[in-house]
Amino acid sequence: MISAATFGEPVGPRDARAALHEVSADPLVRTDPEVERLLIAEEERQRDGLELIPSENYASPAVRAALSSVLTNKYSEGYSGQRYYGGQEVIDAVEDLACARALRLFLRGKECLEWDANVQPYSGTSANIAVLLGLAPLGSRLLGLQLTHGGHLSHGHRVAFSGIAYEAHQYALDPTTEHLDFDAIRALARRVRPAILFSGASAYPRAIDFRALQSIADEVGALHVADIAHVAGLIVGGAHPSPFPFTPVVTFTTHKTLRGPRGGVIVSRREHSAAIARAVFPGIQGGPHDHVTAAKAVCFQEALQPEFSVYARQVVANARSLAERLAEHGFRLVTGGTDTHLLLLDLRPHGLTGTEAEAALDLVGITANKNTIPDDPRPPKDPSGLRLGTPPLTTRGMREDAMRRIADWIAETLLHRSDTDRLTRLREEVRAFARAFPPP
Ligand SMILES: Cc1ncc(COP(=O)(O)O)c(C=O)c1O
Repeated sequence: MISAATFGEPVGPRDARAALHEVSADPLVRTDPEVERLLIAEEERQRDGLELIPSENYASPAVRAALSSVLTNKYSEGYSGQRYYGGQEVIDAVEDLACARALRLFLRGKECLEWDANVQPYSGTSANIAVLLGLAPLGSRLLGLQLTHGGHLSHGHRVAFSGIAYEAHQYALDPTTEHLDFDAIRALARRVRPAILFSGASAYPRAIDFRALQSIADEVGALHVADIAHVAGLIVGGAHPSPFPFTPVVTFTTHKTLRGPRGGVIVSRREHSAAIARAVFPGIQGGPHDHVTAAKAVCFQEALQPEFSVYARQVVANARSLAERLAEHGFRLVTGGTDTHLLLLDLRPHGLTGTEAEAALDLVGITANKNTIPDDPRPPKDPSGLRLGTPPLTTRGMREDAMRRIADWIAETLLHRSDTDRLTRLREEVRAFARAFPPP
C-alpha cells in the first residue's frame, strides 16, 4: 500500500505516480514509464480491435517469455560447435533444438537426415537474400511472381536486393481467372532459363501447387526455392499442400501463420546447406538473435501439437466464411474466393481505393491493409485492393459466425464511410465484441 508516509509529504497526484513507479515490480514501469505507456496503448489497441492483417498473429505468452529472456545478452557468431565466442553450451543446445524441431515440422523420421535447417535469418527477406547469395552468382537470372500480382519484393522486384543484384524476371497471374497459370510460367521459364525459380506469395488467396513449379524448375534446370512465409503454419497443420520433400530449398517466416517470433528460417537439402550457412553468416548477418532462436523453438513445439492442425484448418474455414459473406454483400474477390488464410477485395466496383477502405476500417477498430490487385490501374502506394486474413482472429478463438458478423461490419463501414454517427456506433460494437475474445 502506497501512503504519503512512505514517500514523505506532500504527495500530489504527480508524486504519487512517481512513487508508484518506484515500487512497481515491473522493471519497465520503474525505469521507463514513457515506453511502458506506449506498450500499454498498443496492448489495448490489439485487444480492443479486430486484426485482419494476414501476415500478423498473436504469439503465445511462452513465445514472448523466450523473447524477453537472458538469451538476448549473448553473442554467438558462427554455428553450433563452431562459434567465435566462449560460453556457448546453452546457446548451442537452443539452436540445435530449434533446428531439429524446424525439420520435424515438415519432414518425417529418416527424411530429416537429408535436410538441414538454418534458424538464424533475422527475417523472411534475409532468408531469401541468403539463399540468393549462397546459391546463385550475382547477376544471374531469377524468376518470381510479380509483386502487383501477389508476389514479394524479395523475389526479384527492382527496388529490392533481389532485383538490384540479379537479372530478375517476373511471372503474372492468368488475366481471366487470376490464378497461377502454369503453362505461361513454363513458357516464360523456357525463355528466361532462370538460375532460381521462386514460388510463394504474399497476397495470393489460392493454394499453390508446388509440385507444378518443381516440374517447371526441373525442366529448365532452375533451382526451385519455395517461400512459404505466409502458409507455413497452414502446411504444418495440413491445411495447405506442402513443398516437401521434393523442393530442394524452402524459406519461411515464423511470425505469420506459424504464430511465433519475428524471424526467418531456411530448410534445404544437405547439398545446399553449407553455401546457405556461409551466406547467412558471415555473408549478410552478424551474431544470431539467440532469444529469437529460443522463441522459434517454442513456436515450433506449439505447432507440433495436434491442436495446431485444428487451428490451421479453422483459419482456412474462417477465411472462407469471411469471403463468402463479403461476396454476399456484393464485394468482388480476386480469384473469386480463397483456399487459404487470406482474401483480396477489388474495391473498384464500389468506387473506393484501398487507402480509403483501410482508413475507414481503422476508424471502427478493424485493421486491414491496402494492397494491389492484379494489373492494378492505381499505384502501389494507393492501390485498388484490400487484403484481409484470419490467422490473428482465429488465435483469439473466433469461428465462422464471428467472421460473418465481421464481414457485415466491414460492409457497413465501407458502404457508409462518411456517416460519422454510424461509424461511432460501429466502433463501440467492434470494441465490445473484440473484448469477448481476449488475445493470449
Ligand atoms: C512471401 C513472403 N516472403 C518474405 C516475406 C518477408 O518477411 P519479413 O517481413 O520477415 O522480411 C514476406 C512478408 O510479408 C512474404 O509475404
